[in-house]
Amino acid sequence: MTLFTCKYIDHLVNVMVYSLHVDLLVNIQRKDLSVKSVMGGPPDSGGEVIVLLPIACFQTCYQSSLVMDVETSSMSRLIVKNIEEKNAMEKQMMQAIQVYEYGDVDQLKLAVVARPEPQGGEVLVRVHAAGVNPIDWKVRQGLRKHLLAMQFPYIPGMEIAGVVEEVGPDVTTLQIGQAVYGRSTTGAYAEYAVAAEKMLALKPQSVSFDEAATIPVGATTAWQGVFESGKLETGQRMVIQGAAGGVGLFAVQLASRKGAHVIATTSGVNVNYVRSLGAETVIDYTTTSLVDVVHDVDCVFDTVGSTLETSLQVLKPNGILVALSGQPSTEQAKERGIQVIASRTQIGSEILENLAHLIDEGQLKTTIKKIFPLSQTSQAHELGQQGHGRGRIVLHIA
Ligand SMILES: NC(=O)c1ccc[n+]([C@@H]2O[C@H](COP(=O)([O-])OP(=O)(O)OC[C@H]3O[C@@H](n4cnc5c(N)ncnc54)[C@H](OP(=O)(O)O)[C@@H]3O)[C@@H](O)[C@H]2O)c1
Repeated sequence: MTLFTCKYIDHLVNVMVYSLHVDLLVNIQRKDLSVKSVMGGPPDSGGEVIVLLPIACFQTCYQSSLVMDVETSSMSRLIVKNIEEKNAMEKQMMQAIQVYEYGDVDQLKLAVVARPEPQGGEVLVRVHAAGVNPIDWKVRQGLRKHLLAMQFPYIPGMEIAGVVEEVGPDVTTLQIGQAVYGRSTTGAYAEYAVAAEKMLALKPQSVSFDEAATIPVGATTAWQGVFESGKLETGQRMVIQGAAGGVGLFAVQLASRKGAHVIATTSGVNVNYVRSLGAETVIDYTTTSLVDVVHDVDCVFDTVGSTLETSLQVLKPNGILVALSGQPSTEQAKERGIQVIASRTQIGSEILENLAHLIDEGQLKTTIKKIFPLSQTSQAHELGQQGHGRGRIVLHIA
């Protein structure tokens, strides 16, 4: 048993090109790899032929390096002219988590796949870290398929921090080598990801890639929930449900910075943490019912969902309820003139730039819940599914 390696892949004609001695061709055909075409080499090639295999064989061949039962003596005749060609071929590949069908954490498989290619207005990012968001495991379980039907296999995740590796056509604001953070369109749990330049911004300089990967989704959601949907003004009273989570921790800081009186809910173990973020009143939901101690607030930002009925009860008439998940009783809301807004996050460069400035000025901080390598993505999802704890889970990739 020995190995030999594909020389390169020609995506234009969908083939993998092998250059090898004619004797080895027999072994390839014996492996039933559907040889597409064989071309004779030049007269002085000493029996070298060029073999084309359909690209569909690519993953199998790449992962196994096309293990063949050729004799060692034949190996010496194997034509691998230039090791750089092999490296160039490997550069087109990357490690990534793939999901092949909806299901539990067993569906998160580490695989070697082709790198995505940036199109117009997009860049390729060498991903250093990816945030693990609740939406990632909800999509993997199929809980969002009525809204977003996935094409399988897909790479999970959306939140990335990394370095621009390649720039597609019509990109005007980003350059190769810049450290960026934001949202990927091809999946975040991978060594490389493509992102639209309008969904990226320069990474805050004062934080690591791991920390930066916790910010795009949580902080943008908080920004839009507090300022755009919640229309929070200085001096108002705002309740933030789920204040220790990946969204809540930013919402508390942004609302407090705006000069609002922030009332936050969390479990006992996170009370001091949430207070340190700027909440003036912190309620341990495991011992105290919010409705017993809070009334007539201007706005509630509910990141929990199961607390929506309570959220309605503590609002003043005509107040605003911003809901991230779930739907409260519309009847009760209507009766009291409460405006219910189902907030949907739109990640964009402008808010990401604002957030980066706040982070670098020391006015906003983030918290990592736990860091996992890509190979332990299943454990990361299991932890996320518990729905408790402070901060965002991160996959450290490079
Ligand atoms: N609609 C959108 O566009 C959008 C965008 C982002 C997120 N989301 C959704 O928003 C939700 C929160 O996201 P996340 O990233 O912040 O989640 P997360 O990081 O998992 O945080 C959840 C937090 O909720 C707290 N919590 C659980 N039960 C609670 C209760 N009864 N009262 C108060 N706090 C409670 C937990 O704190 P303890 O440990 O103290 O219990 C935990 O810190 C998820 O459902 C997510 O899918 C929606």
